[in-house]
Amino acid sequence: MRNGFFLMVGRLVRVAARNRDGPASVEPVNHEIRVLTDAQEIGRSLDVFLTAMVGLPRADPDKQHEFMEPGRTVGAYVPTPSSPDRLVGTASAFTSWMVVPGGKKVPQAAVTDVGVLPTHTRRGLASALVRHQLEQCLGRREVIASLRASEGTIYERWGFGIASNVAAVEISVPRAQFREGVPMGGDVRLIDLRERSAQDLLARIYTGANWVGAIDRPSYWWRARAHMRQLSSDHYYAVVHGIPGHEDGFAIYMPEDTTAWFRSTDRGIVVGDFVANTSRAHFGLLRYLLSIDLLQRVILDPMPVDHSIEKLFTDERAVGVRGVRDETWLRLVDVQAALSARSYRTGAQVILQVKDDLLRQNSGRYLISADGVARTEQPPDITLDVAQLACAYLGGTEFWQLAQAGRIAVHKDAGLTAADHLFGLRRAPFSGTMF
Ligand SMILES: CC(C)(COP(=O)(O)OP(=O)(O)OC[C@H]1O[C@@H](n2cnc3c(N)ncnc32)[C@H](O)[C@@H]1OP(=O)(O)O)[C@@H](O)C(=O)NCCC(=O)NCCS
Repeated sequence: MRNGFFLMVGRLVRVAARNRDGPASVEPVNHEIRVLTDAQEIGRSLDVFLTAMVGLPRADPDKQHEFMEPGRTVGAYVPTPSSPDRLVGTASAFTSWMVVPGGKKVPQAAVTDVGVLPTHTRRGLASALVRHQLEQCLGRREVIASLRASEGTIYERWGFGIASNVAAVEISVPRAQFREGVPMGGDVRLIDLRERSAQDLLARIYTGANWVGAIDRPSYWWRARAHMRQLSSDHYYAVVHGIPGHEDGFAIYMPEDTTAWFRSTDRGIVVGDFVANTSRAHFGLLRYLLSIDLLQRVILDPMPVDHSIEKLFTDERAVGVRGVRDETWLRLVDVQAALSARSYRTGAQVILQVKDDLLRQNSGRYLISADGVARTEQPPDITLDVAQLACAYLGGTEFWQLAQAGRIAVHKDAGLTAADHLFGLRRAPFSGTMF
């Protein structure tokens, strides 16, 4: 890990002094990308991010640094008329892992808080920050990086692709009668989210997360979540499933809209964090949520896109999907290590020619089969950019879909079939963690 200030001096960026008529002057200036170590500076970087995001809630300035892992926030400094050295852009990350197909937990950087002040956008600063972060990942032997994107057009240029999607699932409580034979699940109990012991319990339960796409939630993440709940005017409730000491799932929920709640005939809750490490927990938690008085609606958001909750009810129309949206934006930082870390179905092999303009050492041909992954000089079956490979890596997108959209070049049709066979999974990938 690199500590202290790390300077990347001498890259030229264009800084435009804007006036009412649009960009007036575009002058090259040096910028520096530094790793931030000082708590105050890290706090300032969060301010930069929040200013860039415009509409996100402000954190308590005295606590901001508690949510960010030391050594993992980078800042872009430029000279401005008021200061020779002003922090105008930032990108952060926390050290994490992700479960990949086959069950391995692969070291990853969970990239977050990417923002450039509106006065300094479109001058290449985010590009420099992300490039620096990815190089830092390489140095830390992080095989992948992932993030959640505020917009769909930002991250592909840096090799990120959408590797998982999530659904917002709405259950109509009056119509949702469980079919005979649906397991009961175990007992649940309410816990008080304001108590530290409750946070610790949730964090402990979450360590059992083992589904493809699940990521580690480090202490910074838990602290930030608790702080955001404190700042919010919403009421959050939490239940855990299982007997004390052996809990295996939890759900955190809040009322959907409390306007006129007391006499409303249209009340709903949103379950924003639903973690079930066992199917018993899945059923126990669902049964609890659907047993709460007053409710017309339970909205589970996010859920895996292949959730199949409707199958539990006598009337499948009790369940609808409000929408599907992208979740995991994945970057394969070390393609060879990432491809080798996941498992593949047996009975086929494929040669992929991968193109990576940012981390060029990844570019090359990879022979992939259930026996392993090796570099090769043989002719490829498919040529694709590293961002497209990221889309397919967790099994959330099939190669034929990418081919149909013209996003990959298929040299042999049999190679396309082989790639889909090798990478295919029974379940859609899903993270369930917003960061
Ligand atoms: C997104 C953001 C960080 C980009 O910063 P930036 O310094 O302007 O980015 P760069 O100048 O390095 O732009 C690199 C490229 O991305 C493009 N780009 C950057 N932001 C974009 C956006 N929001 N939409 C579309 N394209 C964008 C640029 O046009 C440029 O394109 P090019 O490579 O074809 O020249 C910045 O616009 C921002 O802070 N936005 C608001 C906060 C936000 O959404 N953060 C992301 C949270 S996930």
